[in-house]
Amino acid sequence: MTLSPPALDLRQLRESVEEVLDGFFARKAADRAPHLPDLATPLQRFVAARGKRIRPIFTLVGWHAADGGSVPAVRHLAAALELFHAFALIHDDVMDRSDTRRGHPTLHRAFAHRYRGAPAAAEQFGTGAAILIGDLALVWSDELLHIGNPTPQQLAAVRPLLDEMRTELVLGQYLDLAHSGCQQPDVQAALTVIRYKTAKYTVERPLQLGAALAGADQNLLTVLTSYALPLGEAFQLRDDLLGVFGDPAATGKPSLDDLREGKATVLIALALTRADRAQADQLRLFLGCPTLTEDQAHVARRIITATGAVEIVETMISERYEQAMTALATAPIDPAAKDALRRLADTAVRRRA
Ligand code: IPE
Ligand code: IPE
Ligand code: MG
Ligand code: MG
Repeated sequence: MTLSPPALDLRQLRESVEEVLDGFFARKAADRAPHLPDLATPLQRFVAARGKRIRPIFTLVGWHAADGGSVPAVRHLAAALELFHAFALIHDDVMDRSDTRRGHPTLHRAFAHRYRGAPAAAEQFGTGAAILIGDLALVWSDELLHIGNPTPQQLAAVRPLLDEMRTELVLGQYLDLAHSGCQQPDVQAALTVIRYKTAKYTVERPLQLGAALAGADQNLLTVLTSYALPLGEAFQLRDDLLGVFGDPAATGKPSLDDLREGKATVLIALALTRADRAQADQLRLFLGCPTLTEDQAHVARRIITATGAVEIVETMISERYEQAMTALATAPIDPAAKDALRRLADTAVRRRA
């Protein structure tokens, strides 16, 4: 009889990341640099709010997939990715002019609200402060990695992947902005955007980074990519649906932003491609309208659904999930890690938040 290996406890993995983050912020709280708490405390609260921690968990599972032992460096690398994510979200909310995140006012809105100078300067102050807090999250992400004390070989293995990940995210976010408000729907272009702005930094690079730290070879990194990219795309396609049809009480973020900003998501591109003349004209009136009301958004949602775009996006999510599962089936990795990747894939595509 063959005994199956003990399952990886995802909750425990998550808690091990929380511990590192808590310890890091506690040390920063003891730092007496003038006004550091003005920025560090809001960042700590932002990080402590209800994030799913999917990136650090992928890093820890990537480490197990490559048979890593129990060395603290991987927990710090995982926590560093959560701080990198905080940087990405804080700046994303400035760029997308979002009001809420993780169930709280976004940092640029909160800082604008508390500004005591001339009212006309409040928004600028909020934006500036949020940019700086995002910068701090990025800088501290690097600091956390080094506190984990990786060996020179480990650092040499992860550094190129980290560099790639950062550049990919910036490019993806730029493409997202550049395509917003575009009148010509282009599903293929929208898929390229989500690959760069989400799939790589959410699934592929975190997994590879954990595996690389454990000494994975290029073959294993490539195998992980074949699971990670389709799953990462499915994750963002789900986010696009939640961004229009989600419940803000569950997602913690608004359900008007993508419409108001005229985001050229796969969902919207499909809806515009499939809409008849009257539907397309009406949809175009709403998309990118900064004062879009809930009632108008309701009409926009009805049109999007009527075009069949929602069903197609659901099919695209299922197809990508299946691709990820097929890649996983033959992946030469530790069975417990494989099982964890299966469970993570389920939650990534079936989520409500
Ligand atoms: C939000 O990421 C941004 C996307 C890439 C879709 P998450 O959905 O992982 O956000 P949190 O960390 O749980 O708040
Ligand atoms: C996702 O951007 C990618 C990043 C945050 C880097 P979105 O703008 O689509 O994500 P949400 O919906 O604001 O979380
Ligand atoms: Mg965005
Ligand atoms: Mg956004």
